[in-house]
Amino acid sequence: MIPISLFHNLSYPRNAILVTSEDPGGRANAMAAAWHSPLSVRPPLYGVAISPKRATYEFIRRSGKFGINFLPFELVESLHTCGRISFREVGEEKLKRARLTPVRGEFGVYLIEEAYASFECYLVRVVEVGDHDWFVGEVKSVRGELRGNILDLGRVRPTLYMGEDHYITADPSSLRKGSIR
Ligand SMILES: Cc1cc2nc3c(=O)[nH]c(=O)nc-3n(C[C@H](O)[C@H](O)[C@H](O)COP(=O)(O)O)c2cc1C
Repeated sequence: MIPISLFHNLSYPRNAILVTSEDPGGRANAMAAAWHSPLSVRPPLYGVAISPKRATYEFIRRSGKFGINFLPFELVESLHTCGRISFREVGEEKLKRARLTPVRGEFGVYLIEEAYASFECYLVRVVEVGDHDWFVGEVKSVRGELRGNILDLGRVRPTLYMGEDHYITADPSSLRKGSIR
């Protein structure tokens, strides 16, 4: 039997994303997150679980906004850097080290230029949960492309987290359309 503390490793693979935010001086930050989800279409809501230990936690609570950014698998090292170094240690050098470019979206939220999809969110609620809290944001703008309303796996390779610093991507040849028998 595995220890209960490892239950989440059995929930992987999960999309690993970057949550963007800014410090009180307007300097951009990004942290990796694997615990996140769409929550509602009307109104459009997105949630992410963030530990109070993260600089991002404080920045989003103060500014009331955050970005959700999906990085291609080619940039997995950039994502990993944002998941293992804190803004508290290196300040705005963090994004430079990760070789990522912060850009402000139309609603003033920092996003990552290299992302294949991104959302600007305004914070609507923080739900206290446990050692992570659940940040609920209203999606104000969306960037990205779909083909037949789904992600075009011929053009983008999503970054999936397996836990314990391991990553994979989706195999486009495994794509199946569901049918009811
Ligand atoms: C793949 C990956 C996924 C992660 N997922 C989360 C997550 O969902 N929530 C969280 O609070 N931290 C998560 N982390 C840890 C933060 O990304 C990490 O502590 C980061 O350095 C925080 O940066 P900050 O202090 O600049 O905000 C994850 C780390 C990695 C590598």
